[in-house]
Amino acid sequence: MVSWPSAAARRVRTWNCSEVLVYEEADRPVAGAGQVVVRVAGTSLNLLDVAIRAGILRHTYPVNFPHVPNCDVAGVITEVGERVNGWSAGDAVVAFLPATAPGAAAEYVTAPADLLAAAPRTVELADAAALPLAGLTAWQALFEHAEVKAGQSILINGAGGGAGGYAVQLAARAGAAVTATAGPRSLDRVRSNGAGRIVDYTATPVLEAMAGQRFDVVLHLVRNSPEETARLVDLVADGGAFVSTTTPGPEDAGRGVRTEQVFVRSDAARLAELVARVDAGTLRIDVAERRSLADLAAVHDQAVAGRLRGKTVLIP
Ligand SMILES: NC(=O)c1ccc[n+]([C@@H]2O[C@H](COP(=O)([O-])OP(=O)(O)OC[C@H]3O[C@@H](n4cnc5c(N)ncnc54)[C@H](OP(=O)(O)O)[C@@H]3O)[C@@H](O)[C@H]2O)c1
Repeated sequence: MVSWPSAAARRVRTWNCSEVLVYEEADRPVAGAGQVVVRVAGTSLNLLDVAIRAGILRHTYPVNFPHVPNCDVAGVITEVGERVNGWSAGDAVVAFLPATAPGAAAEYVTAPADLLAAAPRTVELADAAALPLAGLTAWQALFEHAEVKAGQSILINGAGGGAGGYAVQLAARAGAAVTATAGPRSLDRVRSNGAGRIVDYTATPVLEAMAGQRFDVVLHLVRNSPEETARLVDLVADGGAFVSTTTPGPEDAGRGVRTEQVFVRSDAARLAELVARVDAGTLRIDVAERRSLADLAAVHDQAVAGRLRGKTVLIP
């Protein structure tokens, strides 16, 4: 019999408010076939983790209790299961893990080997956990849904957040003219990410600031009402695209405008491309705050209250 030392993990015993997040000893995971065990250097908070903990997504993402949350991981492989090729103990990796499996709010996590990408070499390993889910969301929204091209105009609504930070950088690098909305705490960061024009949404409502203007693409990253969302679709030029990670646009927007909703998925090959950009210095991982994993419940509360800006990395 092989026995493993136990390892600390944040676990959720039921869906509810953040108090259900309990920091406790858990069995150290073992790599099954096609899996590796990763010693977690860092994980990052995504609103998906908060929504799963709260039970908002219980039908889409059913989890077994006690559940260890967190989809983003950066760490070092400590064990390789059967039928895993190309990865060895000691490799530094990042991944967007399946949301319903035991997650990375722990010292150790199992990861499907086919979801792994080598971690960037040019940033702290823990900070690399800020890349997978938010970076893939931005990529898939811009290039798989909106099909953004050089020379196009794009409005990124909610550019101050984690996904928005990557979206502004990737769209600007692709040669699009980026207009962004951001609050005062994020203005400088959004500007340095490559937005040519920024509207402070706390000073002027976006619809008022953009009155009479149209964009080839509107990327919508803010949760609001269907009515407000429909008015944002009016900012899309004829034949353009409205892509949302939150409230969907109307199915038939007219004027040849496509409305699409993003459901981010793990994609190891694309994640490796994003990592290559980080190492080439063309994509920045911006970590707003580093916190102890023991603070996870407080971080959830801050996220719900809208007090987090950008990416928060949690370190076990
Ligand atoms: N469907 C999917 O697959 C998918 C994937 C990833 C994310 N999402 C969703 O997409 C949204 C963005 O994700 P995220 O990770 O970027 O979230 P996040 O990091 O929590 O970003 C939230 C940001 O939104 C900005 N904001 C809030 N109210 C705003 C308003 N009225 N106008 C403009 N900006 C506003 C704030 O920026 P300031 O700092 O500038 O105030 C805040 O930092 C979330 O709702 C998330 O749940 C969906």
